[in-house]
Amino acid sequence: MEFLDLKTQQKRIRKPLEKRINKILDHGAYIMGPEVFELEEKLADYCGVKHAISCSSGTDALLIPLMAWGIGPGDAVFTTPFTYVATAEVISILGATPVFVDVYESTYNIDCDKLEIEINKVIEEGKLTPKAIIPVDLFGLPARYRLIDKIAKKYNLKVIEDAAQSFGGSIRKKKVGTFGDVAATSFYPAKPLGCYGDGGAIFTNDDNLAEECKAIRIHGTRKDKYNSEMIGLNGRLDSIQAAVLLEKLSIFDEELEMRNEVNAHYRKYLNNAQHHPNAYQSAQALFSIVLGSNSKRNDVVERLSKNKIPSVIYYKFPIHLMEAFKYLGYSTGDLPISESLSDSIISLPMHPYLKKREVNFIINAIQKKSWKW
Ligand SMILES: Cc1ncc(COP(=O)(O)O)c(C=O)c1O
Repeated sequence: MEFLDLKTQQKRIRKPLEKRINKILDHGAYIMGPEVFELEEKLADYCGVKHAISCSSGTDALLIPLMAWGIGPGDAVFTTPFTYVATAEVISILGATPVFVDVYESTYNIDCDKLEIEINKVIEEGKLTPKAIIPVDLFGLPARYRLIDKIAKKYNLKVIEDAAQSFGGSIRKKKVGTFGDVAATSFYPAKPLGCYGDGGAIFTNDDNLAEECKAIRIHGTRKDKYNSEMIGLNGRLDSIQAAVLLEKLSIFDEELEMRNEVNAHYRKYLNNAQHHPNAYQSAQALFSIVLGSNSKRNDVVERLSKNKIPSVIYYKFPIHLMEAFKYLGYSTGDLPISESLSDSIISLPMHPYLKKREVNFIINAIQKKSWKW
């Protein structure tokens, strides 16, 4: 059994994909070729947003808008510590300060009451200027954007949706990519929509921001490729990766439906999974359960591996306790929910091609002992 089965998917798209790749080999526009623009149009259409700007990774998709806003030293950017490190890393790269806000115990997404408390603390301390919020749509579940937007308006903050895991998700049928001022997704191979290398995209309805992001993505150039108008990056997506994404996008909705079915089947037997509120559609990137304690998790990991069932811990270390972020001065106990999730969570196999009998096998392996969750 695989944690993520990309081979079955590849068999489905292999022929049309080879055709697309051969076309690229013929035309030779490996960088910013026609496939990149075709993809951007289709992505924007899919999300219902004005601009989709492809780029080299989900990390750069977060970094580029922050650069466009001029976020830097002295600025506070609020996010959660229970996410992949890239979310906080981009803040630190720019010399700004990540301010961590704990998550809800049920959804693992940013707690909006605590967000407002942290913003007020920063204002009272007077050392940093609050500038932006990066809510993370963890495991594919969108964060509470109605509340987040209200808070952002009240304190005049920008919102950048970390949609690395949630492309395809929605709230009340409004698609991920349309929340906040801008959204950033990742096309890392393991993501619901992934390419065969690194890739990402930025989504926004803001014309000016879109222009700035496009320029930053190509070394800060606008008209003349050899005359940079600002500091930028080499942040482009390759044509071949765009071709992979175009083929995968054509079966994406069907695969999302299949992921929904796997998720529903797991939930028939497990009541300790991430809570998905009504009207929130997760992209079902990962299926995770919380096991109450570290020793219970160790026990489950052992039983899964005895049965040759792969599992992964997302995330074993909350960012505020990582060595790289020690300089921020956080200690154990500062963000208790994130810390306890890190101690007791586990992700089980999740992909569109996971069969019901495989899910049953996983459930049996987990539930052999009769203790309460
Ligand atoms: C929540 C989150 N943010 C950002 C990223 C960064 O994306 P990438 O790996 O494409 O740079 C990831 C990727 O794993 C992620 O899961």
